[in-house]
Amino acid sequence: MHRILSSFAITLFLFGIGTAQAGSRPADVPDGMGPLPAVAPIPADNPMSAGKIELGKKLYFDPALSKSGNISCNSCHNLANGGVDNQRFSIGHLWQHGGRNAPTVLNSAFWTTQFWDGRAPQLEDQAKGPPMNPVEMADDNPKQLMARLKDAGYAPLFSKVFGKNSLNYDNMAKAIAAFERTLLTPDAPFDRYVRGEADISKAAKRGMRKVDEIGCTGCHSGPLFTNNSFQRFDYGTDAGRKAVTGKAEDDHFFRVQSWRNVALTAPYFHDGSVATLDEAVRIMAKKQLDTDLSNKDVSDIVAFLNTLTGTQPEVIYPLLPRPAGRALDFRD
Ligand code: HEC
Ligand code: HEC
Repeated sequence: MHRILSSFAITLFLFGIGTAQAGSRPADVPDGMGPLPAVAPIPADNPMSAGKIELGKKLYFDPALSKSGNISCNSCHNLANGGVDNQRFSIGHLWQHGGRNAPTVLNSAFWTTQFWDGRAPQLEDQAKGPPMNPVEMADDNPKQLMARLKDAGYAPLFSKVFGKNSLNYDNMAKAIAAFERTLLTPDAPFDRYVRGEADISKAAKRGMRKVDEIGCTGCHSGPLFTNNSFQRFDYGTDAGRKAVTGKAEDDHFFRVQSWRNVALTAPYFHDGSVATLDEAVRIMAKKQLDTDLSNKDVSDIVAFLNTLTGTQPEVIYPLLPRPAGRALDFRD
């Protein structure tokens, strides 16, 4: 009897009586919202392979990409930590700071442009930025960096993936981009809710409906919670997209940031000026929709945003190539 009762209870639990029906989309999910796609778009000239992803992972974690030998992509986009550093402005070469907050690399394969101002069309272009950026990794030129990677022992690893004599800056960027395309965060509580596999709190459901009602989803739309467009955000002193296009009408335009994993990526906005998600939500409502939200609305919306934290990729720390018994040429 006891066994029968408990298996009945398990059946009730599994089929989610009183919550969502297993496998069916709950009726209250606004149109357009949905689970994170399982794969990100892959450009035709950079197909994925296990070897390329592994090489890209080494490069991503390798501080030999920086002139000082101290800074890797992971220093600012820490995969143990939501793909960010939680600093207002990251610490780069010689403790310098740039002028923008580091966004997460998680799911960045889904954005149709990279950077707050969209100045890199795709991940391959983006990955060529940081090594030569004087306040980030500060290498003098790609040649110097390639010489150091060769000295570290990368040449045979590139040959295996790209063919003979293939250690070059473009292929470095391709390998890193391939690795980044694996950094997706599926199965967030919201995704499981949409698929009818689990419930989310009442507050989160109110928040979900609220962002739709008041129009946040005009910009933060679809399963990515961004329409990947540039929108005016009249805030701070950064000219945003205008510096890329040179057009006056792009002044203070920024790419709409995704809400995926947003609870992990404080501080907020391109200038990292806002410490809490509550405050970021309040400012967005005021600036973008001329709406003053009540405290309850803010906490409901934040409860919803919290359901968008997905399963973080578990990355096994790679072993890096190095010459035996000798240091690489690192400089101040
Ligand atoms: C010193 C800190 C630092 C280092 C090192 C660094 N980044 Fe970044 N990264 C940033 C900042 C800051 C931005 C935003 C800059 C901007 O938008 O102008 C950024 C933006 C990005 C973006 C765009 C994400 C988006 O949502 O638009 C990606 C992808 C990225 N970095 C990947 C990398 C990779 C790959 C490396 C290593 C080759 C790297 N970063 C090294 C700080 C850093
Ligand atoms: C008109 C388009 C638009 C609307 C409407 C809009 N947003 Fe945004 N949102 C943006 C843009 C653009 C950014 C990037 C801002 C920046 O550059 O700092 C952003 C950024 C954010 C961020 C910070 C993300 C980060 O990583 O720093 C949050 C949180 C946010 N929006 C929430 C909301 C909420 C909640 C609403 C509704 C109350 C809303 N947004 C309405 C365009 C919009």
